[in-house]
Amino acid sequence: MQAPALKCSLLFFSYTFLLFLSSLNLASSAIVCNPSDKKALLDIKYHFHNVSAFKTWDSKTDCCNDWSGVLGCDKHGHVTTLDFTSYNLAGPIPSSLGKLRKLKTAILHTNNLSGHIPSFLGLMRNLEFLYLYDNKLTGPIPSSLSQLPKISAINLGSNQLTGSIPESFGSFISPLITSLSLYSNKLSGPVPKSLGKANIQLLDLNDNKFTGDASFLFSKDNTSLFSIDISNNLFHFDFSNVDLPQSLEYLNISHNKIYGSLPKRLGQLPLKKIDVSFNQLCGKIPTGRRLKQFSPVFFSHNKCLCGPPLAPCH
Ligand SMILES: *[C@@H]1O[C@H](CO)[C@@H](O)[C@H](O)[C@H]1NC(C)=O
Ligand SMILES: *[C@@H]1O[C@H](CO)[C@@H](O)[C@H](O)[C@H]1NC(C)=O
Ligand SMILES: *[C@@H]1O[C@H](CO)[C@@H](O)[C@H](O)[C@H]1NC(C)=O
Ligand SMILES: *[C@@H]1O[C@H](CO)[C@@H](O)[C@H](O)[C@H]1NC(C)=O
Repeated sequence: MQAPALKCSLLFFSYTFLLFLSSLNLASSAIVCNPSDKKALLDIKYHFHNVSAFKTWDSKTDCCNDWSGVLGCDKHGHVTTLDFTSYNLAGPIPSSLGKLRKLKTAILHTNNLSGHIPSFLGLMRNLEFLYLYDNKLTGPIPSSLSQLPKISAINLGSNQLTGSIPESFGSFISPLITSLSLYSNKLSGPVPKSLGKANIQLLDLNDNKFTGDASFLFSKDNTSLFSIDISNNLFHFDFSNVDLPQSLEYLNISHNKIYGSLPKRLGQLPLKKIDVSFNQLCGKIPTGRRLKQFSPVFFSHNKCLCGPPLAPCH
C-alpha cells in the first residue's frame, strides 16, 4: 500500500518542481531586452574591443537580466541604468550610447575614456545622473548638457577638461539639478554669473584655474546650497559682504586670492566643515556657536585673521 502513495508524492514532487522551473523561466523572461537597445549595447561592446568586462554580453541572452553592468530596464525592456565603474574602457565615449533613449543613469567613471565629451549627451532626454569622473576626457564642457530636462547630478571631476563653464549652465532647464562637480580639471576663466541663479545644492569647482569673482555663488535668498568647494583656484574677490545661505554645511574657499573679512553671518551657520586657509583675509573671526571649535589650520595662512580659534586680535 506504500508504493502507490510514494509514486503519487513523487509525481506531485516532479509536478511542483516543473512548475517551479517554469516560474523561474517566466521570471527571467519577464523583461526582454528591447532589440534596438540590445543592438546599441553590442555596438558599445565592439567599440571597446570586446574587453573582458563585457564577457557576459552575449547576443543570444537577455541584456536586461544576464548582462553585467546593465542594472536596470523599464517594463518595455529599454535600458535605464548602466554602471561601467572600473571596466578598463579606453577611447572615446561611443555614439551608440546616445541611442539608449530611456537611459536615466550613466555611470562611466574610473576608466580611461578620452577625447571630448560629446554634445549628443545633451539630447538624452531621460538622463538624470551623468558620472564621467576619473577618466582622461579633454576639451570643453558641452553647453548642451544644460538642456537635459531631467538631469539631477553631473560629475565630470578628475579629467583634463579645458575652457570655461558654459554660460548656459546658469539656466539648466531641469528644475532637479542638485549637484555639479567639475573638480580637478584644467578649467579656467570667470565662472558665469548666471550660475548663481541655478538651484544647486552641491557645487564643487575645486582644483581648477578659475579666476575673478565668485561671490554671486553664495546667494542668501536661496536656501538650497549646502556644500560649496571653490578651493585651489585663482579666485580674487572681497568676501566681506557675501550673502551666505542659511543651509550651508560645507564651505571650502582655501587656496585662492580672496580678500576682505569673514562675514558675521558665518558664525551662525550650521557648518560641519570650513576651510578659508591660504587666502588674503583679514580681521576678527566672527564669534558664534561654532567657528571656534574648528582647528586653527582651517583659518591659517591669511593676511591678518585673528580671534578664536586663532590668536587674539590686538
Ligand atoms: C568583437 O566581437 C565581434 C562579434 O563577435 C567581432 O565581430 C569583432 O571582430 C570583435 N572585435 C574585436 C576588436 O575583437
Ligand atoms: C589606463 O591606462 C593606463 C595606461 O595604459 C593603465 O596603466 C591604467 O591601468 C588604465 N586605467 C584604467 C582605470 O583603466
Ligand atoms: C533660488 O532657487 C529658485 C529655484 O530654482 C529660483 O527660482 C530662485 O530664483 C533662486 N533665488 C535666487 C535669489 O537666486
Ligand atoms: C579644502 O580644500 C583643500 C584644497 O583642495 C583641501 O586640501 C582641504 O582638505 C579642504 N578642507 C576641508 C576642510 O575639507
